Amino acid sequence: MSNFNVGICCLLVVLECYIISIEAFIIPLLSAVWIMLPAYLPNPVAALCGGGTPIDFKRSYKDGRRILGDGKTYRGFFAGVFAGLAVGLVQIWCSDAFGLTMLPAHTILSVSVLAFGALLGDMVKSFFKRRLGKERGEHWLIADQYDLVAGSLVLMLLVDPAWLIANVTVPVFIVILIITPVLHRLVNMIGYYSGVKDVPW
Ligand code: CTP
Ligand code: MG
Repeated sequence: MSNFNVGICCLLVVLECYIISIEAFIIPLLSAVWIMLPAYLPNPVAALCGGGTPIDFKRSYKDGRRILGDGKTYRGFFAGVFAGLAVGLVQIWCSDAFGLTMLPAHTILSVSVLAFGALLGDMVKSFFKRRLGKERGEHWLIADQYDLVAGSLVLMLLVDPAWLIANVTVPVFIVILIITPVLHRLVNMIGYYSGVKDVPW
């Protein structure tokens, strides 16, 4: 083979790898972030804006421990859901304005369910955390990281399964499972070092 042919072959291999990497990694990664943005934002916004009346009104469960604890407040909940909804509406607008057809198409229902479900999952987690005798803010591996994923996607499965199946494909779901704990840790460390959170998790 001439040098020219070898060169062309190498170029084609590089091009193929590039196309495969876009299809296999970059599109699922962008799709996962795009889908989960309305679910990712509520937690840090709740941490920033939270405080005031706790959702359980300081009441205890029959085991004598708080139902949810002081870490779950009305202000945090509503500010968080509002932020998730707001970013989702901006995403819907951007999709239309810039013709972002390669990204999953959000709807008003999808962004509402994701934002609400994320903090619902967070609350359900706190309920079980208290039942296990863990204090507010105490570390609970896996549950602390995936509560928002479980809450948002399970609620989506109940409310709009067609949207879930069409958009959260297997590769996208795998990417969500990989990036969520990484982002969670990153955001919580930023929260800790900037003084918003008491603990870096
Ligand atoms: N927050 C809030 N209301 C919510 C969720 C969160 O006010 N519905 C605020 C609280 O100030 C909370 C902070 O965000 O302390 C961080 O949230 P999170 O880590 O979920 O709560 P923890 O304090 O760790 O409590 P828990 O052990 O119940 O998870
Ligand atoms: Mg916590």
